[in-house]
Amino acid sequence: MLGKNVTIIGGSGGMGKVFARYFKKHGFNVILYARNEDILRREAKELKVKYLTNLEESVKDADIVMVSIPIRTTPDMIKEVAPYLKDNAILFDISSIKSSVFKVLDEARKQYPINCLSLHPMFGPGIVNMRNYVIIVIKVGGTREYANLIKELLQIFKSDGLILTETDPILHDKQVALTLGVPHMLNIIFLNLLKNTNFSLGELTKYTGTTFLLQKVFAESIIQREMEMFGEIQIENHEFLYILDLLENLIQEYKTIIYNKDFNEFEKIFTQGLEYSKEDSHFQNSYKYFYEFMKILKK
Ligand SMILES: NC(=O)c1ccc[n+]([C@@H]2O[C@H](COP(=O)([O-])OP(=O)(O)OC[C@H]3O[C@@H](n4cnc5c(N)ncnc54)[C@H](OP(=O)(O)O)[C@@H]3O)[C@@H](O)[C@H]2O)c1
Repeated sequence: MLGKNVTIIGGSGGMGKVFARYFKKHGFNVILYARNEDILRREAKELKVKYLTNLEESVKDADIVMVSIPIRTTPDMIKEVAPYLKDNAILFDISSIKSSVFKVLDEARKQYPINCLSLHPMFGPGIVNMRNYVIIVIKVGGTREYANLIKELLQIFKSDGLILTETDPILHDKQVALTLGVPHMLNIIFLNLLKNTNFSLGELTKYTGTTFLLQKVFAESIIQREMEMFGEIQIENHEFLYILDLLENLIQEYKTIIYNKDFNEFEKIFTQGLEYSKEDSHFQNSYKYFYEFMKILKK
């Protein structure tokens, strides 16, 4: 049976705090670990949970250890913490890139009698209610208790209406390159493109009714998020250079269409996009949703 002690490494960070609150609400005893003691103390006090600044001490009695630190440092932390864990403990990360983390988790569970899992919550620290949000699940393996313990843990998430999508690390990284990296990149490029024209956003906003306004707000909501993580999501994902090649080819194609005033080719590229999006479940109502969002902005 799943024990009640959870340690969150990176517990003073955005996602660490989300899950500290979550596990506490579900009756777990939560301990936070991080390096900066002042911040850790403040956050632990606010969350009314314990904290420790000694890594070994913080995890030795834990039934579940969650690693919630920057992507680049997650594999080394898994290697460091695995030997300290008690038998049958669950060790999981929530890093946004999985290929390197999976390898290290797989090695750890072969070397120690522990149970390893890799999760990717598809939401950020601003989440209020997790219902209908997705957590991507990658099962790694572990002891004879693995199936039961992991089932119990995942059942907690399911009972709150979270949608669990199971996959493998390679497919995960390919897909999040598109679902996270690409929208982040396009919006960073969008704002830099406008900046390079020397018009201010305020000035441009006077010339818009709908599309630009919505696009601008979306881009502004992205650019004020966690820069380090957004960089890691693109730079650490091996798939991302391939996507940039595809983008470069498309831009070249687009430029040729515009330069040649080739309306037939424009229709072709436009229709390709249309046909592709028609298969999507949101397609029918997208234009309606657009005006629902606009209502908020035009209040
Ligand atoms: N933010 C999101 O929207 C989101 C969504 C899904 C998944 N994730 C994943 O969640 C993880 C954490 O993201 P976050 O946004 O919560 O980051 P964050 O707010 O920057 O928090 C990072 C935490 O890790 C600690 N930390 C940093 N480096 C450390 C190290 N080397 N050893 C031990 N502790 C360290 C930090 O405290 P100290 O510096 O004091 O040690 C802090 O508590 C990342 O892997 C990210 O990919 C994030």
